Amino acid sequence: MNRAQENRDDKVSLVEMGPRDGLQNEAATLSLVQRLELIARLAESGLQRIEVGAFVSPKKVPQMADSAALFDALPRKVATRYGALVPNLQGLQAAIAARADEIGLFTACSDGFTRANIGISVEESLVRFAPLVQEARSLGIKVRGYLSTVIACPFDGPTRPKRVAAMAERLLDLGCHEISLGDTIGVGTPGTVAPMLDAVLHEIPAGRLAVHFHDTYGQGLANLLPALERGIRTIDSSVAGLGGCPYAPGASGNVASEEVVYLLHGLGMSTGVDLDKLAATGQWVSEQLGRPNGSRVGRALHANAERLRTRLCQPSPHSSPH
Ligand code: HMG
Ligand code: MG
Repeated sequence: MNRAQENRDDKVSLVEMGPRDGLQNEAATLSLVQRLELIARLAESGLQRIEVGAFVSPKKVPQMADSAALFDALPRKVATRYGALVPNLQGLQAAIAARADEIGLFTACSDGFTRANIGISVEESLVRFAPLVQEARSLGIKVRGYLSTVIACPFDGPTRPKRVAAMAERLLDLGCHEISLGDTIGVGTPGTVAPMLDAVLHEIPAGRLAVHFHDTYGQGLANLLPALERGIRTIDSSVAGLGGCPYAPGASGNVASEEVVYLLHGLGMSTGVDLDKLAATGQWVSEQLGRPNGSRVGRALHANAERLRTRLCQPSPHSSPH
């Protein structure tokens, strides 16, 4: 491997899920102004791909209502790509009108979850998506394919690795530029994630794959290691570990972005993300939502910053009293 290749291999791209996958499953709903500030702060910390919202039924996911107004108010930066989740033609039309840089279509390996989530079977979802991908691509909008339940389905049980590989291939054939492999309910361990990845990588190059691990059982970070070892360099994560999927009972948020950045920097890999700024954003959004910060790295950095602030605020023993 020459040096240029080495450098490229060390660069990891994070796709920030907090404003969408995160907020969609929080009990408190943030105002438009708060959502906007969250996205601006995330972009300011160096994240270049941010999933901003979802054009789904507001009756199903009220937290994502007003995504159109949100897109309208976003500060557009050349370096930042804003994505939107889209379930159908109505959602695609809204995403086009909102000038989304990227859309994410979503289906799963299992019918049980797909029916609960979007009301149709997996096969029906692929039929629905085919013209949507063509339409988006003809307008120069990139299409990401989310593939859920790659380890197990909350309704149908464990998923076979070969099923994941076949489904990922079909999404790629539809014209998706990237497939995000979702352990939707966060039950995987490296013991189940590695064979799943091996099966998919048999059909699809690592450069077209992303991993999307929910952290329900605390395995999210561990599960990233087999993905990194196999050359996958796109990781979905959520600031402060926000969220989950409202149609996957018991699932918690994605692996926290702060944890992912800390791990990657510790491995000598680059992300382009300023960890202190990201952690401050995680603390800020947790306070806005009135919930504990779900990132351990975020909590540790916040505690350090507080200790430093308290020390700086204390009068110095050399300062003379007046
Ligand atoms: P439906 O009820 O079957 O749709 O929902 P419908 O076509 O019969 O329409 C019913 C109503 O919904 C109508 O309104 C439509 O206008 C409206 P009404 O006449 O009753 O007032 N509607 C819409 N409104 C806004 N935007 C739209 C839209 N489409 C219809 N795009 C539908 C079907 C797919 C819309 C619904 O089931 C839905 O919105 N599901 C989305 C569920 C969702 O957002 N789940 C979470 C995201 S997926 C996830 O988190 C997993 C992921 O992170 C990966 C992983 O972790 O594995 C991606
Ligand atoms: Mg998810």
